[in-house]
Amino acid sequence: MKRQSVVLGLLLIVSLTLNAQTEKLFNETAAQKEARMAWWKEARFGMFIHWGLYAMPARHEWVRNNERISNEDYQIYFDNFDPDKFNPKQWAKDAKAAGMKYAVLTAKHHEGFCLWDSKYTDYKSTNTLARRDLVKEFLDAFRAEGIRVGLYYSLIDWHHPDFTIDVFHPLRPPDNSPKEVWNELNKGRDMSKYRTYLFNQITELLTKYGKIDILWLDFSYPGNLGKGKDDWNSVALLKQIRKLQPGIIVDNRLDLGKYADAEDFETPEQVSPSELLKYRGKTWETCQTFSGSWGYHRDENSWKNNRQLLDLLITSTANGGNLILNVGPTARGEFDYRAKIALDSLSKWAQENSKSIYGCTYAPEKYAVPAGTKLTYNPTTQKLYVHLFDYPKDGKLLLPGYGGKIKYAQLLHDNSELLTPDKKRIVQFADSQDIVLVLPEKKPDYTIPVIELILK
Ligand code: GLC
Repeated sequence: MKRQSVVLGLLLIVSLTLNAQTEKLFNETAAQKEARMAWWKEARFGMFIHWGLYAMPARHEWVRNNERISNEDYQIYFDNFDPDKFNPKQWAKDAKAAGMKYAVLTAKHHEGFCLWDSKYTDYKSTNTLARRDLVKEFLDAFRAEGIRVGLYYSLIDWHHPDFTIDVFHPLRPPDNSPKEVWNELNKGRDMSKYRTYLFNQITELLTKYGKIDILWLDFSYPGNLGKGKDDWNSVALLKQIRKLQPGIIVDNRLDLGKYADAEDFETPEQVSPSELLKYRGKTWETCQTFSGSWGYHRDENSWKNNRQLLDLLITSTANGGNLILNVGPTARGEFDYRAKIALDSLSKWAQENSKSIYGCTYAPEKYAVPAGTKLTYNPTTQKLYVHLFDYPKDGKLLLPGYGGKIKYAQLLHDNSELLTPDKKRIVQFADSQDIVLVLPEKKPDYTIPVIELILK
């Protein structure tokens, strides 16, 4: 008897393990998925735009949570929102110059304010001094520049009267409050009504504005006093999304991890370049800020420099993933001077060096990584890119064991030939021989210069 139940228990564990992630919601084949994701994997680099009323307090987009601000006290921002300099055509030009191939705008963030003319709420941009459908103008402007477009939509909503008060809500009671206090606070709030609102708004965004390339839903925190797939009705929502926009790419924050086909990409947030190695082989996009905050933060001064930003971009590609870099426009609707400087510095590099990014991934293992560099590889054009993080002081770069594998070497930014010290032709090196390249004595004027190796 006892033995039988042990066996049964084991069987159950085995079947549960086998079932994990085998359950599916859709009929898409692997090849179809590959085709749907192809442009996104090729693109590698996008712009995130976090914009909302929180640009006015200018002290983080979580300001309502951090300072426990009520709807009434937050109303002052709605009443005074006046983005007189809003010009998404300029945003799109800046994104394009920086080498970004797609852009994702917060149609609604956790504060609940809608940047489009939604028929399901009055809490929207068209009812402010802006009087404009900001989502529509964003989509038009970016599409016109040939940039793919996406919308971020917050599953969380701190303004909606039916969204129940939970662990992140601005109106949450003090820590360790008993259950009765929470129940009392949530009297009259009805999540099923919020679920309908959410469903309707997503439907509206995916039907009124043409083709949307990406939907970035944010976020789930299941568990006690949290919210997850049942609160959002995630399965029905995702089915609706795919029905309305079959080509769309959706992130992984709907709490549907148990399904093998519900999440198009992972979203490691604000991780360091060294942590990206572990995502090799997966489909992912790391989201990153210029400074610490997503929304415009006037007094946040820890801005990443050009080298740090390029490191994120190159290291993402070098591990087979995407980077989406965030700008938080000011309450007047502009990229502030620090964002401009950061974008300009990226654009200088991107103009001449981005061949090492688009369509690239990590290099095959047979190429040892030369000291002080990071490698990317384009499987279609058969080129290998060596990013010179530490420019060699003696002007010489050792390519260990590269003999027999490459036929030509040049600097990427100007296609100027790179020779060996004795001007030997690289193509003549025997298998696995070390090759030394002579670099210009004066470092080219890029934070991280790139060498292009044309493979045999
Ligand atoms: C987070 C934050 C948020 C930001 C987002 C971007 O989950 O709540 O403010 O929008 O991640 O990835």
